[in-house]
Amino acid sequence: KVFIEGNLSDKKLIIVSNREPYIHKKTGLSIKVEKPAGGLTSAMDDVLKVTGGTWVAWGSGSGDRDVVDNKNLVPVPPENPSYMLKRVWLTPSKAENYYHGYSNQVLWPLCHITLDRVYFRKKFWEDYKEANRAFSDAVLEEADNDSIIWVHDYHLCLVPGMLRNENPELTIAHFWHIPWPDWSVFRVCPQAKEILEGLLGNDLIGFQVPLFVKNFMDCVSECLDADIDYNKATINFKGHVTRVKAFPISIDFDKFNSMASSQRAIRMIKNTKEKYGVTHGYIGIGVDRLEYTKALIKRLQAIDLFFDRYERFRRKFTFIQIAVPTRMKEPYISYKKTVEELITKINKKYSSGSWKPIIYIDTKIEHEDLAAYYRMADVAIISSVYDGMNLVAKEYVASQVDENGVLILSELAGAAEEMQGAIIVNPYDIEGFSDAIKEALIMSQKERSNRMTFLRKQIKDNDIYKWISDILHEIIKVSSFKQNRCCY
Ligand code: G6P
Repeated sequence: KVFIEGNLSDKKLIIVSNREPYIHKKTGLSIKVEKPAGGLTSAMDDVLKVTGGTWVAWGSGSGDRDVVDNKNLVPVPPENPSYMLKRVWLTPSKAENYYHGYSNQVLWPLCHITLDRVYFRKKFWEDYKEANRAFSDAVLEEADNDSIIWVHDYHLCLVPGMLRNENPELTIAHFWHIPWPDWSVFRVCPQAKEILEGLLGNDLIGFQVPLFVKNFMDCVSECLDADIDYNKATINFKGHVTRVKAFPISIDFDKFNSMASSQRAIRMIKNTKEKYGVTHGYIGIGVDRLEYTKALIKRLQAIDLFFDRYERFRRKFTFIQIAVPTRMKEPYISYKKTVEELITKINKKYSSGSWKPIIYIDTKIEHEDLAAYYRMADVAIISSVYDGMNLVAKEYVASQVDENGVLILSELAGAAEEMQGAIIVNPYDIEGFSDAIKEALIMSQKERSNRMTFLRKQIKDNDIYKWISDILHEIIKVSSFKQNRCCY
C-alpha cells in the first residue's frame, strides 16, 4: 500500500525508535514473540517487510537478551523473516533515567506545555546522552553511505547529530510525533541548545502540523546562530542544511472500516449494550491512554456540568471512558487515582435506578473490539490540552460505518486542523464544552451524516500509507539533492 516514488532499491532503510516492533519473551525453553498493537509500529513493519533493512530499538525490559547473534540482530517477522531487528540494551538504571526520566519527565511535559510537571535531574540528562550514544553506535554498525536512516520521536534527539559527526554522507530523517512548543516554553529546557543541535544533524525533520514547524524554526532562531529560510523551510547550521516540513500522521482507514463493518462487531455491539444496560439512549465514548495531556479531568468536569445544566439527558446519555494505564509511575499513578475519584463522585451524584452516567474501563481493548465500541458510540470526545495529532479521532471516524456519530474534538489537538466536520471545543472552556455535548446529541440526522461523510473521505484519502509514502518521497528527494550537491 505504500507508494514509493523514487528509488529506494539501492538504499538500506534503517528505522530507529525507542519501542520495538516485536517483543521476544523467553518462556521456559522457548521464545515467544509478541507484536505490540501500536498503529505506527505495525505500519512501519509493513514498510520494512517490503523494503528490507534494519529496525533499531530499545530491547525494553520484556525482551530477552539471549536470542541474538553477536551483533544483536534478530530476523523478523519470525514466521517469514524479511528484515533485521537490532535491539539496544540498557541497564535498568540507565533505562530509568533515559526513558522515565529525561524522555517522560522533561521532554514530554515540556513539549505538551505542562510546565508544572517538568522534573529535571542531572542524571536524567547524563543517561539520556549515553542511551542516545548506544542507539547511534548500533545504527553505525549497520549503516553505509547509501543508507537512509529514519529516527522517531523525542527519545532520540541526539542521535542525528551523533550520526552526522561520524558520517556526514548519511541521509537522516526524523519524525517528531508530539507537539513542538514555542520558544517561550522551550527555553525552559536546560539543554535547549544541545537538543536543537542534535536534531539539526537531520536532513529532514517532519512535524505533525505547520504550527510545530514554525515553532521549531523560531526556537532555532532564538537559540542558535543559524541561517533560517522561512519560505523554503530550511535551516543552515554550520554548513549543513535541514529541511523541516509538516506531515500529519494518520491511521489504517481500511482496517478500522472493515473491522467495524464485520459481523463480529455487530455481535459485539449488541452484547456490550446488554452488558452495560445501554440498549436505549445515547452513548458517548472516550478512548485514551491514562495520560494527563488528554485532559480527562476537564472532560469529566464538562460531563458533570452537562448533566447539571441539561437534566433531561440524565438516564438518556451514558459515557463510556476507556482509559488504558500507561507509564505506571508518578505522576501517572496519582492522575489515575484523581480520575477514578471524580468518576465515582459523578456517578454518585447522578445515578438513578440501574443507570449510571459513566462506565469506566481501565484495561486495554484490542483494535477489533475497539472498532465496535467506536461504531456503537453516538459521540466521541477528545479533550487534549495539547496533542501532536490524536489518532483516536481518526479511528473513530474510520469506524463510523453508519455515518451517524459526532466527533467532539479539542482545538488543541493537531487533528483539529484537518478534521473540519468535528465540533471543535476549547477544553478549558467547561461551559462551552458541556454545550458541545448537547449540540452533538440534538444534531439532526442529516447534519451528522453530512459531517461524518466529509470526515471519512478526508481520513480515507489521507491514511497512514499516504503518510509513509509522502515522507519517504521527501527523504528520497533530500537524499538525491545531497548526492548531486543540489540545494533547495
Ligand atoms: C504516544 C506518542 C508517541 C510516543 C508514545 C510513547 O503514543 O504519541 O509519540 O512515542 O506515546 O509511549 P510510551 O508508552 O512508549 O512511553
